[in-house]
Amino acid sequence: MKKRVLFVCLGNICRSPAAQAVMERLVDDGEMSELFMIDSAGIGSWHTGQLPDRRMREHAQRRGYELTHRARQVRSGDFERFDYIVGMDEENMHDLRRLAPSHDAAKRVISLPDFLRHHPGQTTVPDPYYGGPRDFELALDLIEDACDGLLDWLLT
Ligand code: 4NP
Repeated sequence: MKKRVLFVCLGNICRSPAAQAVMERLVDDGEMSELFMIDSAGIGSWHTGQLPDRRMREHAQRRGYELTHRARQVRSGDFERFDYIVGMDEENMHDLRRLAPSHDAAKRVISLPDFLRHHPGQTTVPDPYYGGPRDFELALDLIEDACDGLLDWLLT
């Protein structure tokens, strides 16, 4: 059985499509594509159908990631389709637990920054949308660090 992982952020155009691409590459590099299904979605529907934010695509491309996901809103069926629903910050966690159709489903909601290993004291993947280049770089640094930790955890 594949492990199914859904990354979620607010708009599904910056952090979660980046996390999806980072995790897909880690899984591919480890020749584990058969073991995982990775997707991403947003709390909001404002950007449905859009490619990721151009700034995030450019920053990610410099690290070798091609972001081609089309934004979509998270839906209640995702809590049945996915084993893990991975939020980026406290607001995402709160919204996801509220959207979960059952107490059991809410237990599938986990926090990406909990898996950071090289950023002591960092408890969120901050939203870069209203920020500048450094905010996008930080988001990618955090996402790469935490996805590495998350993958190890999923494999134990
Ligand atoms: P994301 O960033 O949650 O990392 O995709 C955002 C993108 C868009 C908006 C907010 C956050 N927005 O308000 O449109």
